[in-house]
Amino acid sequence: MSQIHVTSHPLIRHKVSILRNKDTTSLQFRELVREITILLAFEATNDLVIEPITVPTPLADAKGYELQDRIGLVPILRAGLGMVNGIWELMPQAEVWHIGLYRDERTLQPVEYYNKLPIAPTVQVVLILDPMLATGGSAVATVDILKRWGAKRIKFMGILGAPEGVKVLAEAHPDVDIYLAALDERLTPEPEQPGDPPAGFIVPGLGDAGDRQFGTA
Ligand code: PRP
Repeated sequence: MSQIHVTSHPLIRHKVSILRNKDTTSLQFRELVREITILLAFEATNDLVIEPITVPTPLADAKGYELQDRIGLVPILRAGLGMVNGIWELMPQAEVWHIGLYRDERTLQPVEYYNKLPIAPTVQVVLILDPMLATGGSAVATVDILKRWGAKRIKFMGILGAPEGVKVLAEAHPDVDIYLAALDERLTPEPEQPGDPPAGFIVPGLGDAGDRQFGTA
């Protein structure tokens, strides 16, 4: 079964609270997504393979380590894009392969519109990046694509998750560990009357992560 890591780090909790606030500007939102991703990445990368090396310091040789795994970042467009720069600050050598999916507003099913993966995998570890794990459809579809590509070690990094989406992803892909900054209460149901929010949004959530990052709300 997938391991589900929901961080309790005070810095992340503090930053996620500002991220949720409806008065947070797009500029602040983008900066917070970047910062939260950096903090989450420490946990999500704690099993990367390193090999011992010798490092010449100005005084003597020291025992050091070198990262062996080649890392691929797979942001799910659009909202996952904002998580790339944070990880690149930690791992500038990481490759980035974009997957374009949007969620059909009526069926909530993911629709693929962009995929330029090369024929064979070029990385050992893939980190899927998407701030929102709502119904889980987009995450499952992305893991399906990556497994067909031949990716062996896949992790999902998100900011907010709904219990429904976590369950769907963990059951569909029990070998994919899930890293989240917060696990929320539920998803919105089908609207019953005008003015109700659309179905499938994380509650309490933060609204639409793509719109809030790109200023398109
Ligand atoms: C949002 C979000 C996820 C997806 C989550 O994207 O960024 O990709 O929905 O929903 P799910 O878990 O129910 O599949 P959206 O479709 O709004 O596209 P966008 O990122 O381009 O705004």
